[in-house]
Amino acid sequence: MTVGVVVPAAGAGTRLGAGRPKALHDLAGEPLLVHAVRQLRACPSIGPVVVAAPPADVAAVQALLPDALVVAGGAERQDSVAAGLAALPAEVDLVLVHDAARALVPVDVVEAVVAALRDGAQAVVPVLPVADTVKQVAADGTVVRTVPRADLRAVQTPQGFQRSVLEAAHRTSSGSLTDDAGLVEAAGVTVHTVAGSPLAFKVTTPFDLLVAEAVLRG
Ligand code: C5P
Repeated sequence: MTVGVVVPAAGAGTRLGAGRPKALHDLAGEPLLVHAVRQLRACPSIGPVVVAAPPADVAAVQALLPDALVVAGGAERQDSVAAGLAALPAEVDLVLVHDAARALVPVDVVEAVVAALRDGAQAVVPVLPVADTVKQVAADGTVVRTVPRADLRAVQTPQGFQRSVLEAAHRTSSGSLTDDAGLVEAAGVTVHTVAGSPLAFKVTTPFDLLVAEAVLRG
């Protein structure tokens, strides 16, 4: 089975405060996106890679990543993933969706997602236990309830899908969710979990960039 990857990389990166798309932000001398695609390419299972770039940066991103197919992303993350999915070559049967911002994802995590798909799962997400106590809070800032922590997981990428399952979910969904597993959950598909990694964290804030630089320094 051929495994393709869609890398949504068209976000504005407002929380990073750099005034440029987050995926193109520098980490140890290279854009975050270049680190992310390098990690994916290091995975023996991975075939074609499609990157959804900010529309104004498609040519620049294509020059950075000559081995990937670069398309223009959309206004919402879901639009960017849909654009990438539409550009995947026909031979791809298993699709991973991986945030460019999770630039240091370990090969083991990617391969665990692929292995679960090859074992027959329709949808797979890497997860970590939640370390903090989590509370639901009302609009006025008061606590509504404490959510039992043992039942919670933080969800990372790459998220893996049988191609037909993800395409069907994208065709039928009109909402705007923060991940792709949410789309297929809404369609009634069982989503499986594998162990994620602290190294697969999403670079969102300047603090996260400091952590990523420290990781790369070893
Ligand atoms: O905003 P957030 O951190 O959830 O974005 C996750 C990933 O989705 C990032 O890699 C970002 O570049 C991408 N994205 C996108 N198109 C958008 C918004 C976000 O490709 N319109």
